[in-house]
Amino acid sequence: MAAESPDAPDLQRARDWLAHAASLAVLTGAGISAESGVPTFRGAGGLWKDHKPEDLATPEAFARDPRLVWEWYNSRRERLAPAQPNAAHRALVKLEIRIARFTLITQNVDGLHDRAGSGKTLKLHGDIWRLRCTVCGANWPDRRVPLPKLPPHCGCGGLARPGVVWFGEPLPEGMMKEAEHAVSDAEVLLAIGTSALVHPAAGLIPHAKHAGAKVIEINTEDTPYSGMVDCALRGPAGEVLPLLV
Ligand code: OAD
Repeated sequence: MAAESPDAPDLQRARDWLAHAASLAVLTGAGISAESGVPTFRGAGGLWKDHKPEDLATPEAFARDPRLVWEWYNSRRERLAPAQPNAAHRALVKLEIRIARFTLITQNVDGLHDRAGSGKTLKLHGDIWRLRCTVCGANWPDRRVPLPKLPPHCGCGGLARPGVVWFGEPLPEGMMKEAEHAVSDAEVLLAIGTSALVHPAAGLIPHAKHAGAKVIEINTEDTPYSGMVDCALRGPAGEVLPLLV
Protein backbone atom coordinates (compact mmCIF):
# COMPACT_ATOMS: atom_id res chain seq x y z
CA MET A 1 0.00 0.00 0.00
CA ALA A 2 1.23 3.49 -0.75
CA ALA A 3 1.55 6.03 2.04
CA GLU A 4 -1.47 8.16 2.90
CA SER A 5 -2.17 10.70 5.60
CA PRO A 6 -3.38 9.18 8.86
CA ASP A 7 -7.01 9.71 9.87
CA ALA A 8 -7.66 12.57 12.26
CA PRO A 9 -9.28 10.32 14.94
CA ASP A 10 -6.25 7.99 14.88
CA LEU A 11 -3.92 10.94 15.26
CA GLN A 12 -5.99 12.28 18.13
CA ARG A 13 -5.97 8.94 19.98
CA ALA A 14 -2.20 8.63 19.60
CA ARG A 15 -1.71 12.23 20.70
CA ASP A 16 -3.81 11.62 23.84
CA TRP A 17 -1.89 8.47 24.79
CA LEU A 18 1.40 10.29 24.42
CA ALA A 19 0.15 13.35 26.31
CA HIS A 20 -0.78 11.20 29.32
CA ALA A 21 2.03 8.62 29.25
CA ALA A 22 4.27 8.55 32.30
CA SER A 23 6.64 6.18 30.49
CA LEU A 24 7.46 5.87 26.81
CA ALA A 25 9.65 3.51 24.82
CA VAL A 26 10.52 4.20 21.20
CA LEU A 27 11.85 1.71 18.66
CA THR A 28 13.24 3.21 15.48
CA GLY A 29 14.39 1.68 12.21
CA ALA A 30 15.85 2.90 8.95
CA GLY A 31 12.60 4.58 7.86
CA ILE A 32 13.05 7.38 10.41
CA SER A 33 16.19 8.46 8.57
CA ALA A 34 14.70 8.16 5.07
CA GLU A 35 13.72 11.83 5.00
CA SER A 36 17.33 12.69 5.88
CA GLY A 37 18.34 11.06 2.59
CA VAL A 38 19.61 7.83 4.15
CA PRO A 39 18.61 4.70 2.21
CA THR A 40 16.63 2.02 4.02
CA PHE A 41 17.56 -1.67 3.73
CA ARG A 42 14.42 -3.17 2.21
CA GLY A 43 11.98 -1.90 -0.38
CA ALA A 44 12.60 0.19 -3.50
CA GLY A 45 16.07 1.76 -3.41
CA GLY A 46 16.97 -0.24 -0.27
CA LEU A 47 20.58 -1.28 0.37
CA TRP A 48 19.70 -4.99 0.21
CA LYS A 49 18.40 -4.58 -3.36
CA ASP A 50 21.92 -4.19 -4.78
CA HIS A 51 23.96 -5.98 -2.12
CA LYS A 52 23.71 -9.31 -0.39
CA PRO A 53 23.94 -9.11 3.40
CA GLU A 54 26.04 -12.29 3.46
CA ASP A 55 28.71 -10.62 1.25
CA LEU A 56 29.02 -7.49 3.37
CA ALA A 57 27.43 -7.74 6.79
CA THR A 58 28.56 -11.00 8.37
CA PRO A 59 31.69 -12.03 10.31
CA GLU A 60 32.41 -14.55 7.54
CA ALA A 61 32.41 -11.82 4.87
CA PHE A 62 34.83 -9.76 6.96
CA ALA A 63 37.16 -12.73 7.52
CA ARG A 64 37.10 -13.45 3.78
CA ASP A 65 37.69 -9.91 2.52
CA PRO A 66 38.03 -7.14 5.13
CA ARG A 67 38.90 -4.55 2.50
CA LEU A 68 35.71 -5.18 0.50
CA VAL A 69 33.58 -4.94 3.63
CA TRP A 70 35.37 -1.77 4.69
CA GLU A 71 34.91 -0.19 1.24
CA TRP A 72 31.17 -0.65 1.63
CA TYR A 73 31.10 0.77 5.17
CA ASN A 74 33.35 3.63 4.09
CA SER A 75 30.97 4.49 1.24
CA ARG A 76 28.00 4.36 3.63
CA ARG A 77 29.88 6.70 6.00
CA GLU A 78 30.54 9.07 3.09
CA ARG A 79 26.86 9.11 2.23
CA LEU A 80 25.84 9.59 5.88
CA ALA A 81 28.32 12.34 6.73
CA PRO A 82 26.31 15.24 5.21
CA ALA A 83 22.90 13.86 6.33
CA GLN A 84 21.04 15.99 8.85
CA PRO A 85 18.52 14.82 11.46
CA ASN A 86 14.95 15.44 10.32
CA ALA A 87 11.75 16.54 12.05
CA ALA A 88 11.11 13.01 13.40
CA HIS A 89 14.52 12.78 15.11
CA ARG A 90 13.90 16.23 16.59
CA ALA A 91 10.37 15.36 17.78
CA LEU A 92 11.82 12.46 19.79
CA VAL A 93 14.13 14.87 21.60
CA LYS A 94 11.06 16.90 22.62
CA LEU A 95 9.35 13.76 23.93
CA GLU A 96 12.46 12.81 25.88
CA ILE A 97 12.48 16.21 27.57
CA ARG A 98 8.78 15.94 28.41
CA ILE A 99 8.50 12.32 29.62
CA ALA A 100 10.63 11.31 32.60
CA ARG A 101 10.71 7.57 31.89
CA PHE A 102 11.80 7.63 28.27
CA THR A 103 13.89 5.01 26.43
CA LEU A 104 15.03 5.31 22.84
CA ILE A 105 15.90 2.01 21.21
CA THR A 106 17.24 2.10 17.67
CA GLN A 107 18.32 -0.40 15.05
CA ASN A 108 20.02 2.43 13.18
CA VAL A 109 23.78 2.82 13.11
CA ASP A 110 23.68 6.23 11.40
CA GLY A 111 24.18 8.43 14.49
CA LEU A 112 21.32 10.79 13.55
CA HIS A 113 19.58 10.44 16.94
CA ASP A 114 22.83 11.57 18.60
CA ARG A 115 23.15 14.49 16.20
CA ALA A 116 19.55 15.55 16.89
CA GLY A 117 20.37 15.75 20.59
CA SER A 118 18.86 12.53 21.97
CA GLY A 119 20.40 11.38 25.23
CA LYS A 120 21.22 7.78 25.97
CA THR A 121 20.15 5.55 23.10
CA LEU A 122 20.13 1.76 23.09
CA LYS A 123 21.86 1.14 19.75
CA LEU A 124 20.94 -2.49 19.23
CA HIS A 125 22.92 -2.78 15.99
CA GLY A 126 25.89 -0.66 17.06
CA ASP A 127 27.27 2.55 15.60
CA ILE A 128 28.88 3.04 12.18
CA TRP A 129 30.93 5.94 13.64
CA ARG A 130 32.79 3.63 16.01
CA LEU A 131 35.54 1.11 15.24
CA ARG A 132 36.51 -1.97 17.20
CA CYS A 133 39.82 -3.85 17.29
CA THR A 134 39.51 -7.51 16.36
CA VAL A 135 42.62 -8.28 18.48
CA CYS A 136 42.57 -6.22 21.72
CA GLY A 137 38.85 -5.34 21.72
CA ALA A 138 39.43 -1.55 21.96
CA ASN A 139 36.38 0.40 20.81
CA TRP A 140 36.70 4.03 19.73
CA PRO A 141 34.86 6.81 17.85
CA ASP A 142 36.16 7.79 14.41
CA ARG A 143 34.22 10.22 12.21
CA ARG A 144 36.84 10.60 9.50
CA VAL A 145 35.38 10.49 6.00
CA PRO A 146 36.84 8.92 4.02
CA LEU A 147 38.97 6.79 6.31
CA PRO A 148 42.61 7.44 5.35
CA LYS A 149 43.52 3.78 4.93
CA LEU A 150 41.39 0.69 4.30
CA PRO A 151 41.17 -1.52 6.18
CA PRO A 152 41.89 0.60 9.27
CA HIS A 153 44.01 -0.71 12.13
CA CYS A 154 44.13 -0.24 15.90
CA GLY A 155 47.08 1.30 17.76
CA CYS A 156 48.00 -2.26 18.84
CA GLY A 157 48.44 -3.22 15.18
CA GLY A 158 45.27 -5.34 15.08
CA LEU A 159 42.73 -5.13 12.25
CA ALA A 160 39.81 -2.83 13.09
CA ARG A 161 36.20 -3.61 12.15
CA PRO A 162 33.09 -1.40 11.97
CA GLY A 163 31.42 -1.00 15.38
CA VAL A 164 28.19 -2.52 14.13
CA VAL A 165 26.39 -5.80 14.73
CA TRP A 166 26.45 -8.18 11.78
CA PHE A 167 24.02 -10.96 10.89
CA GLY A 168 24.76 -13.99 13.03
CA GLU A 169 26.28 -11.92 15.86
CA PRO A 170 24.81 -11.32 19.30
CA LEU A 171 23.60 -7.85 20.24
CA PRO A 172 25.79 -5.80 22.62
CA GLU A 173 25.92 -7.45 26.06
CA GLY A 174 22.85 -6.76 28.19
CA MET A 175 21.31 -4.28 25.74
CA MET A 176 18.38 -6.43 24.67
CA LYS A 177 17.48 -7.08 28.32
CA GLU A 178 17.52 -3.33 28.97
CA ALA A 179 15.32 -2.75 25.92
CA GLU A 180 12.87 -5.45 27.04
CA HIS A 181 12.78 -3.94 30.50
CA ALA A 182 12.00 -0.52 29.01
CA VAL A 183 9.16 -1.78 26.82
CA SER A 184 7.71 -3.78 29.73
CA ASP A 185 7.70 -0.61 31.80
CA ALA A 186 6.31 1.60 29.04
CA GLU A 187 2.71 2.80 28.93
CA VAL A 188 3.24 3.55 25.23
CA LEU A 189 5.58 2.09 22.61
CA LEU A 190 6.19 4.06 19.43
CA ALA A 191 7.54 1.87 16.61
CA ILE A 192 8.81 4.17 13.88
CA GLY A 193 10.10 3.33 10.40
CA THR A 194 10.95 -0.31 10.94
CA SER A 195 9.91 -3.20 8.71
CA ALA A 196 9.81 -5.28 11.94
CA LEU A 197 11.42 -8.18 10.10
CA VAL A 198 14.73 -8.42 11.94
CA HIS A 199 14.82 -10.16 15.30
CA PRO A 200 15.35 -9.83 18.18
CA ALA A 201 14.60 -6.08 17.77
CA ALA A 202 11.23 -6.69 16.07
CA GLY A 203 10.11 -8.86 19.00
CA LEU A 204 9.98 -5.73 21.17
CA ILE A 205 6.69 -4.81 19.50
CA PRO A 206 4.70 -7.90 20.63
CA HIS A 207 6.63 -7.81 23.91
CA ALA A 208 5.28 -4.31 24.62
CA LYS A 209 1.79 -5.29 23.56
CA HIS A 210 1.75 -8.35 25.84
CA ALA A 211 3.05 -6.22 28.71
CA GLY A 212 0.04 -3.92 28.31
CA ALA A 213 1.51 -0.93 26.47
CA LYS A 214 -0.43 0.99 23.85
CA VAL A 215 1.54 0.44 20.65
CA ILE A 216 1.62 3.13 17.99
CA GLU A 217 3.23 2.32 14.66
CA ILE A 218 4.38 5.04 12.27
CA ASN A 219 5.34 3.73 8.85
CA THR A 220 4.71 4.47 5.20
CA GLU A 221 3.75 0.80 4.69
CA ASP A 222 2.11 -2.07 6.53
CA THR A 223 4.36 -4.31 8.64
CA PRO A 224 3.77 -7.82 10.03
CA TYR A 225 2.56 -6.16 13.27
CA SER A 226 0.25 -3.54 11.76
CA GLY A 227 -2.77 -5.72 12.53
CA MET A 228 -1.92 -6.11 16.22
CA VAL A 229 -0.86 -2.58 17.15
CA ASP A 230 -3.32 -0.19 18.80
CA CYS A 231 -2.83 2.53 16.23
CA ALA A 232 -1.13 2.26 12.85
CA LEU A 233 -0.38 5.68 11.42
CA ARG A 234 0.50 5.62 7.73
CA GLY A 235 2.83 8.32 6.47
CA PRO A 236 6.40 9.61 6.56
CA ALA A 237 7.79 9.83 10.10
CA GLY A 238 9.02 13.39 9.59
CA GLU A 239 5.46 14.49 8.86
CA VAL A 240 3.45 12.25 11.21
CA LEU A 241 5.52 12.31 14.40
CA PRO A 242 5.60 16.12 14.80
CA LEU A 243 1.77 16.03 14.67
CA LEU A 244 1.80 13.90 17.85
CA VAL A 245 4.23 15.93 19.91
P1 OAD B 1 14.06 -1.72 6.68
O1 OAD B 1 14.75 -1.15 5.50
O2 OAD B 1 13.87 -3.18 6.77
O3 OAD B 1 12.62 -1.07 6.82
C1 OAD B 1 12.42 0.31 6.73
C2 OAD B 1 10.97 0.58 7.07
O4 OAD B 1 10.78 1.99 7.06
C3 OAD B 1 9.97 -0.02 6.09
O5 OAD B 1 8.93 -0.65 6.82
C4 OAD B 1 9.44 1.21 5.32
O6 OAD B 1 8.08 1.03 4.94
C5 OAD B 1 9.58 2.27 6.36
N1 OAD B 1 9.76 3.66 5.84
C6 OAD B 1 10.40 4.05 4.73
N2 OAD B 1 10.41 5.39 4.64
C7 OAD B 1 9.73 5.85 5.73
C8 OAD B 1 9.40 7.15 6.24
N3 OAD B 1 9.77 8.28 5.60
N4 OAD B 1 8.71 7.23 7.39
C9 OAD B 1 8.33 6.10 8.05
N5 OAD B 1 8.61 4.85 7.64
C10 OAD B 1 9.31 4.74 6.50
O7 OAD B 1 14.82 -1.13 7.97
P2 OAD B 1 14.85 -1.71 9.47
O8 OAD B 1 13.53 -2.19 9.90
O9 OAD B 1 15.50 -0.68 10.29
O10 OAD B 1 20.37 -4.68 10.35
O11 OAD B 1 15.82 -2.93 9.28
C11 OAD B 1 16.22 -3.64 10.39
C12 OAD B 1 17.63 -4.13 10.22
O12 OAD B 1 17.76 -4.84 8.98
C13 OAD B 1 18.67 -3.02 10.10
O13 OAD B 1 19.08 -2.52 11.35
C14 OAD B 1 19.80 -3.74 9.41
C15 OAD B 1 18.99 -4.42 8.34
O14 OAD B 1 19.56 -5.52 7.74
C16 OAD B 1 21.69 -5.00 10.29
O15 OAD B 1 22.44 -4.51 9.48
C17 OAD B 1 22.09 -5.99 11.33
